[in-house]
Amino acid sequence: MRSDLKLLAVAALLTLAACTSDQDDARSNEQEIPRLTAATLGEQTVLEVSEYLAQVQYSRANRKNGAAQAQICKACHTLTEGGQNMIGPDLHGFFGRSVGARDGFDYSPVLRNADFRWTPRTMDAWLAQPGRFLPGNRMMFAGIMESGDRDDLIAYLLDVTSD
Ligand code: HEC
Repeated sequence: MRSDLKLLAVAALLTLAACTSDQDDARSNEQEIPRLTAATLGEQTVLEVSEYLAQVQYSRANRKNGAAQAQICKACHTLTEGGQNMIGPDLHGFFGRSVGARDGFDYSPVLRNADFRWTPRTMDAWLAQPGRFLPGNRMMFAGIMESGDRDDLIAYLLDVTSD
């Protein structure tokens, strides 16, 4: 009996391991992670925040999940107007703004020298894998793998960081 149970446990563990590695395979699927980098952006189109919010992936986004995702950002960033720079710069009003433009924040050279604007498109690639989007930056954040979570977070940020 006991050895049967042991076998069952081993089988369960193996199934679990198999599921996990399946998931890993799906997660490492390149389609989930934007290939876009700061160097391959090309010309940018910058819209009004309200126009982004009208786009389907943001108008239909789950704000609750977005707010939950934003908790980790808040460890290092304020999102509100007049917020202080902490480990990272205050992010109020950053959509449409140039990268590295927040007064009084000591950016890394790569962020200071980069030349692009923050839009949902650049945000999405940055949040997926900051180190790939802009190698050498100082944001200690591995990234958000699921594109749906990024959409929810970006919708939330469009709401709360804009006037
Ligand atoms: C562990 C701290 C930390 C966490 C967590 C973190 N950041 Fe950052 N973030 C930074 C730092 C530090 C910088 C500046 C990087 C540099 O200068 O290279 C930065 C820079 C940024 C910038 C560029 C700002 C500008 O003025 O150009 C954006 C946008 C940003 N973070 C968004 C986020 C979002 C959204 C999250 C949550 C998913 C997040 N960050 C999580 C530390 C953090």
